[in-house]
Amino acid sequence: MCGIVAYIGDKKAFPIILKGLKRLEYRGYDSAGIAVNNGTELNLYKKAGKVVELEKFAKDKDTSGNVGIGHTRWATHGKPNDVNAHPHASGNSKFALVHNGIIENYAVLKEELEKRGHIFKSETDTEVLMHLIEDIISKQNCDLFEGTRQALNEVIGAYAIVVISEDNPNEIIAAKKSSPLVIGVGIDEFFIGSDATPIIEYTKNVIYLEDGEIAKLSLTSGLTLKTIQNVEKTPYIQELEMKIETLEKGGYDHFMLKEIFEQPRSIQDCMRGRLMLHQNYISLGGIEAYQDKIFAAKRLIIIACGTSWHAGIVGEYLLEELARIPVEVEYASEFRYRNPIIDENDIVIAISQSGETADTLAAIELAKSKGATIIGICNVVNSTIARATDCGAYTHAGPEIGVASTKAFTAQVTVLTLISLLFGKNKGVIEPARFTRLMHELNAIPSKVEEVLKSDAYIKSIAEIYKDAPNALFLGRGINFPVALEGALKLKEISYIHAEGYPAAEMKHGPIALIDEEMPVYVIATQDASYEKVVSNIQEVKARKGKVIAIVTKGDKVVKNIADHVIEIPKTDDMLVPLLATIPFQLLSYHVAVMRACNVDQPRNLAKSVTVE
Ligand code: G6P
Repeated sequence: MCGIVAYIGDKKAFPIILKGLKRLEYRGYDSAGIAVNNGTELNLYKKAGKVVELEKFAKDKDTSGNVGIGHTRWATHGKPNDVNAHPHASGNSKFALVHNGIIENYAVLKEELEKRGHIFKSETDTEVLMHLIEDIISKQNCDLFEGTRQALNEVIGAYAIVVISEDNPNEIIAAKKSSPLVIGVGIDEFFIGSDATPIIEYTKNVIYLEDGEIAKLSLTSGLTLKTIQNVEKTPYIQELEMKIETLEKGGYDHFMLKEIFEQPRSIQDCMRGRLMLHQNYISLGGIEAYQDKIFAAKRLIIIACGTSWHAGIVGEYLLEELARIPVEVEYASEFRYRNPIIDENDIVIAISQSGETADTLAAIELAKSKGATIIGICNVVNSTIARATDCGAYTHAGPEIGVASTKAFTAQVTVLTLISLLFGKNKGVIEPARFTRLMHELNAIPSKVEEVLKSDAYIKSIAEIYKDAPNALFLGRGINFPVALEGALKLKEISYIHAEGYPAAEMKHGPIALIDEEMPVYVIATQDASYEKVVSNIQEVKARKGKVIAIVTKGDKVVKNIADHVIEIPKTDDMLVPLLATIPFQLLSYHVAVMRACNVDQPRNLAKSVTVE
């Protein structure tokens, strides 16, 4: 995890870095720090807590200087205190470094450095790397670029790093392996960010560093790019398509609420140019090119983590039902460690909002090493996972800043629906009439989501009733079972209420024992194939005095008579219900979290992209 920002140019570095760190806080918010070179010395400020704490701390200090580095941390090695916060200085205080990733062999390196007289202040792996660079520079009398390059050859693990020195305020060194780093190229100035969000308002010209590359950004000699094996590289500058407004709250109290309300548009954006209603045709060029191989495969394996994994389970129902392709859905973190049986005939679909999740990336690498073809479904354009895959489809949901994923989930499900329809049609396993009907239904989803969002005030009133219940159960069947999982995850993540998602029919094998008059049970009870069964499950809950909050199809009378509250959603095809049923759960957990005074956009202990195992 962790966010990195750096600047070198003719402007004051500190405010640019501070603002950039606020943009990157979704990546971690345990502590923050900035080092600036004021022309004669390095000033280093760091503080436990959010970036705003750092801002307060540095208010009356010397923050002058046109070159600096900053970091917002999600703790891995060492507690989230001031000392362990980045940047880390070298022993002689001549250099400072920020790092995102993990140096796996830090203990061995530290022991050797300690033998040579290095004294460490923090518990971090990062400080070890800083001392290693310093050690090489002093032993070999080389410059910072060379010292960093050589040090990285001794390091095992993942890193995105930026280093500056006291003696040379004209240059910054940056390098990456497995963790992301983007360089913004301005006129006589450079910006660095873990993603493009801190850069976008200054320049649209960016270079995405590749693994094993190291760059020198110099105000005198410009940009030098090499591999850490010292091979010259030609930088590839590309233009960003991101818009600055997408990174602001736009009048909403929280990013999460803004992102929930953006869903009619984000789903539309996801379908644009793909769902060709009038031609009765789906266009997913990248994936279609691999179609023969996909159809020849015995099964598809979907790998993902968190909310993306839930989208993967929805995908399993969609692909099996509409395209008749067997699917297995795996947690990436489990898949990678269990010697999976996979070969060059297999197809893996990797789903990731950030395109950075370490476990998903490692699972991809493992599958690739066995020859499998990898399809990516990512939101962040040009992310590590997007680049590691053979083909794929972006979700085009736009930047998602709230840590709890909302619009990315519905966009992932939309892409999976498009893929299922495309394969179903091309394999000839979906009836033409059903295909056409589903195309129309899918096309109508954005306006139906709009309709669901109109229930916001009502859902808020339900949240008011149940906000203090310490537990909650979410039930769904069939394709709505993963929606129940996702509903429970949302509530857990942002309001710290213990919640479980369960297949409605499985309730009787355990969770039913938890039900009493205190327990809110959220049920997806829409009029689909399992409607009657779910109604029976609701009766079982009511018989034990549980409180039932049911999501029902508009106009439903049966459930209305038994449930304590019903939230209506418009009628749609059974296969598309997750795209609508998930919205009330997002709103519910949002309101509960706000009422409980929780930090909705930055829930405790979590981070948006998890770039560690
Ligand atoms: C973290 C985030 C979740 C997300 C998961 C997978 O846990 O807090 O919201 O679902 O990572 O992330 P990805 O970027 O791979 O979808």
